[in-house]
This record gives sequence, structure tokens and C-alpha cells, in this order.
Amino acid sequence: MSFEREVHSSPEAAAAACALYILDSLAGRTATLALSGGTTPRMMFAEMARRPFDWTRLHIFWVDERAVPPGDEQSNYRLAREHLLEPAGVPAANVHRIETELPPFEAAKRYQAVIREFFALSEGELPRFDMIHRGIGADAHTASLFPGEPLIHDEAGIAAAVYVEKFKQFRVTLLPGVLRAARQTAMLVCGADKAAPMAAITGPTRDPLRWPAQVVTGTGAPERWFIDEAAAGL
Ligand code: 6PG
Repeated sequence: MSFEREVHSSPEAAAAACALYILDSLAGRTATLALSGGTTPRMMFAEMARRPFDWTRLHIFWVDERAVPPGDEQSNYRLAREHLLEPAGVPAANVHRIETELPPFEAAKRYQAVIREFFALSEGELPRFDMIHRGIGADAHTASLFPGEPLIHDEAGIAAAVYVEKFKQFRVTLLPGVLRAARQTAMLVCGADKAAPMAAITGPTRDPLRWPAQVVTGTGAPERWFIDEAAAGL
């Protein structure tokens, strides 16, 4: 089945189940994982760091990054570094962050080049991450694809810089074709402010420009959602 949903009694339980799913899926082989940021993943990162896992074979990338240096408190890389990479002892050579200390368009170009080289892609080919972890916002955005963003219709690109008007901030994000091409996707979604967007994204009306998470959800691409009761609207 392409879409599966697990409702957990608390955000902690959802985060732990999502962490377990990701690590179990990637264990025992060389694999690629792209992480998201925001606030929800913190517990999941801590849970992942606590588990026994061979980190030497996992290569970590990012779904999106804010246009801030890596030490900034808004940095998605910093969140992962503090709660996962450092505590788990992930080898530095396995960490492929988005270099947003560069100007955003340059950072996107550089990230695209890093991915193309790592996956040994030919012209026009998209990478297939073994696992992509994503969340959604209260406005139904995912990655850094926000409502109204023209790149929601982009099928060919790997990564791009986007200007997010609501935060008056540039970000660098993976593009829809890459999100959809993932072998597996783990969605971690918690909190009452996610109940309405959840319902819209998984509902019968398709309008990805309005509910960007539909660039993957509803397309048949495999997705497993880990949500708490508040996000499920229970
Ligand atoms: C980011 C993210 C973003 C995130 C959602 C949910 O940089 O903000 O990668 O797409 O997944 O915004 O964020 P919260 O966990 O903060 O609700």
C-alpha cells in the first residue's frame, strides 16, 4: 500500500515509532537518508541517537534548509547535529549538509552538485533516496514548498532556492520529483495545528499549489505517516 498511517497516543510515541521505522528500514546496508527540520523532529533525532546503529554506512542529507549559517539556531543542520549527529557519533564524511552560509542560489547549485556526484547521476536523472523524512506545516507546506510556490509544478529539478514570503526568508529545498522518487518516506506530524492540513492533504480534493504536501501524498508514492492523536483530530 502506498499510504499508511499510524496514530500514536503522544508526540513522544509517534517520534519513537518513526525513529524505529527509519532505522529498521536502513539497517544492515549502505543507505541514504534525507532529514527535515522544524521543531517536531527533535525527539525523533534523540530517539535515533539512543539506538544501537551502524552509522558508518548511512549517508545523511537534508530535505531543506533555511538561509542561515550552520551554527544559527534556525538551522535544520544544527538541530540534527545537536540531537542526532553528535550524540550518535555520525562520521563527518557521511554528513552532506546544505551550505546555506553561501548565497541561497549558490547554496542550491552546490547542493545539487553534491547530490549529483554522490548518486553518480547522469544528465536529467533524479536521485532516489532510500528514505526521506518530512513533516508538514499548519499551511500544508512540506519541505520548503509553501502554498503558491511555482516550483510545486517542477518535475525535473533536484534542489532550488525559494523565497518564503511569510518568513521573509530564503530557503533551499529538494524539489517535488526528488521527494516523490524516494524509496520510502516517513512523515512525522504532531500537534492540533496539523489536524486541518492533514485532513486536506489526505482528502479527496487535489490541489498541490494550495496543499503542497500533495506533491507526494496521493500520487501513489510510498509514504508512512506517524502522527499523534492531536494531529489525527481525535
Ligand atoms: C523546515 C522543515 C519543514 C517542516 C515543517 C514542520 O525547515 O521548517 O523542514 O518543512 O517539516 O515546517 O515543522 P514543525 O515540526 O516545526 O511543525
